[in-house]
Amino acid sequence: MENRPKIIVTGGAGFIGSHTVIELIEAGYLPIIIDNFSNSQEWIIDRMCILTQSKITYYSVDCKSYETMHELFSGLGDIAGVIHFAAFKSVGESVASPLKYYNNNIISLATILQLVLDFKIPKLVFSSSCTVYGQANQLPVTELTPVKAAESPYGYTKQVGEQMINDTIKEGAVILRYFNPIGAHSSGLIGELPIGKPENLVPYITQTAIGIRKQLQIYGNDYNTSDGTCLRDYIHVVDLAKAHVKALKFLDDNNTTETFNVGTGKGISVLEMVKTFETVNNVKLNYKIVPRREGDIEQIYADTTKANSILKWKAQYGIKEALRDAWNWELNIQQMKLSA
Ligand SMILES: NC(=O)c1ccc[n+]([C@@H]2O[C@H](COP(=O)([O-])OP(=O)(O)OC[C@H]3O[C@@H](n4cnc5c(N)ncnc54)[C@H](O)[C@@H]3O)[C@@H](O)[C@H]2O)c1
Repeated sequence: MENRPKIIVTGGAGFIGSHTVIELIEAGYLPIIIDNFSNSQEWIIDRMCILTQSKITYYSVDCKSYETMHELFSGLGDIAGVIHFAAFKSVGESVASPLKYYNNNIISLATILQLVLDFKIPKLVFSSSCTVYGQANQLPVTELTPVKAAESPYGYTKQVGEQMINDTIKEGAVILRYFNPIGAHSSGLIGELPIGKPENLVPYITQTAIGIRKQLQIYGNDYNTSDGTCLRDYIHVVDLAKAHVKALKFLDDNNTTETFNVGTGKGISVLEMVKTFETVNNVKLNYKIVPRREGDIEQIYADTTKANSILKWKAQYGIKEALRDAWNWELNIQQMKLSA
């Protein structure tokens, strides 16, 4: 008889979801993945099974499909919580194809919220983003920093998503505003799998280092920061994954709906990332400073006091570990391609 609390993890085969499933299993939960594999691969789940030495249940289902999801939930018995990762996440693509983003991100969440109500599921954790703050006037940003008009349809789906949750669930939800998730599992077995040209810095760095990309372009070194390049708050994906477990534990004892920043509290420049990558991995990167890119904000980093004190969560890793793990993962993918 299975008595671990069941947690539905939508998007559980994706970058952050896969690492969270590992942490959930380690913390004694029974995660059940729902993913349509629109931005992930089924073999990642095999790797997760190897890592945890357990059988992981998953369903290849689109979260937008209320009937299918309702039927699935009906067959699962008691569900202790839902962690909703499933969404599209490319800012650039969302500008080019806004309806694709509104359709997937908003309808998926509306469906999940309806199911949470239908099945009286006591806990929901939602993936939001620091993108809701835009370029804040004051740094670091706290959860009370005003949300700015969204600069992309993707960012708008996160703002609307937060509002939808706050309107629907007054007792039993945690909204996590992620800063910049990077790194990979230290085993090198799972990590980020960008399809096509990566939008984020770290996969671009690792793909340049391995020779998939010719050169890394650093957009602007004339910003008002220590070395002139943009500052971000980079958080190791394993630390971020652990924040989800803490969010579920928080909801064990609190019937509220709360929002938390999940970052390290440190602003790191793009150049510092590049140099640290070179040093920790002993690899030379071909990079070039080019003019600023439209739409980039200058700097953002989190005030994490609320998560530290209320969720009892704090990032354990720094960029050195994250950049080492990201490189290890890139080497692993390369190895896999060679032996395929
Ligand atoms: N990675 C980041 O930089 C970042 C930053 C802030 C917030 N987020 C948010 O965190 C969440 C997870 O991000 P990620 O980096 O792991 O992305 P990801 O693309 O790696 O994972 C998302 C997963 O959801 C699945 N999915 C998408 N739409 C679906 C649908 N309709 N039905 C079922 N499955 C669906 C995809 O196949 C994928 O496996 C997203 O909501 C994203 O917006 C990510």
